[in-house]
Amino acid sequence: MARKPIIVGNWKMNKLRSEAEEFMNGVEAHLTGEEKADYGIAAPYTCVDTCVKNAKHLIVAAENCNEKDSGAYTGEVSVPMLEELGITYCIIGHSERRTYYNETNEACALKAKRLLDSNIIPILCIGETEAQYDAGETENVIKTQLNGSLAGLTGEEVARLVIAYEPIWAIGTGKSADEKTAQDCCKLVRDTVCAMYDEATAEAVRVQYGGSVKPTNIKEYMACPDIDGALIGGASLKVDSFLEIIDATKE
Ligand code: PGA
Repeated sequence: MARKPIIVGNWKMNKLRSEAEEFMNGVEAHLTGEEKADYGIAAPYTCVDTCVKNAKHLIVAAENCNEKDSGAYTGEVSVPMLEELGITYCIIGHSERRTYYNETNEACALKAKRLLDSNIIPILCIGETEAQYDAGETENVIKTQLNGSLAGLTGEEVARLVIAYEPIWAIGTGKSADEKTAQDCCKLVRDTVCAMYDEATAEAVRVQYGGSVKPTNIKEYMACPDIDGALIGGASLKVDSFLEIIDATKE
């Protein structure tokens, strides 16, 4: 079965609830639900409820979760709490969280398992730093991150995941990976899943590219055989640029 492309905006720590509502209505007005790809946004916790209430066709994702269900974890948000709000996807392991909040591969594996148990699809982010890229360590980093972040998951569970390959040097820098690098790395993600599980799992898992994706370059990525979509930061903040991305990928 062909993989359905998935394009998700990552708002990061941006947007007040009124802005989120305005965005949702602005984008929803142009969607019919007949699009060939899944489109969505990942919103800060405070906006999730607003986004879900205003979503007709857009997926609403959270940007993080805690793997525990409840307890003395000040400031954290659990999967049941997200489930109650009606979210269907959740980003885990974003490089900003790995870098600033010490989100490890082990934590990603626990979060992924807990999300899948609630039928929320994890968008697992992986990717190398610029120094690792320059040192030719990309392959090793991707394999290590996948081995650690998928630990304990079954093939059936991994088949439901979205994995976002995001080279850190391309995030928010305007320096997007060229098409060949993005394709090669997304293929490496798929090949690694194949080696860890099997061909059917690798064929099912959706792999996104992320890092300075814009209306002007999205088409090139989407034309690559192993790229099933994109995770988009900056260009997902404005209705106009997000609609341009949708338009470029609708057919
Ligand atoms: P960017 O961010 O599109 O602004 O580079 C991507 C991301 O962090 O997911």
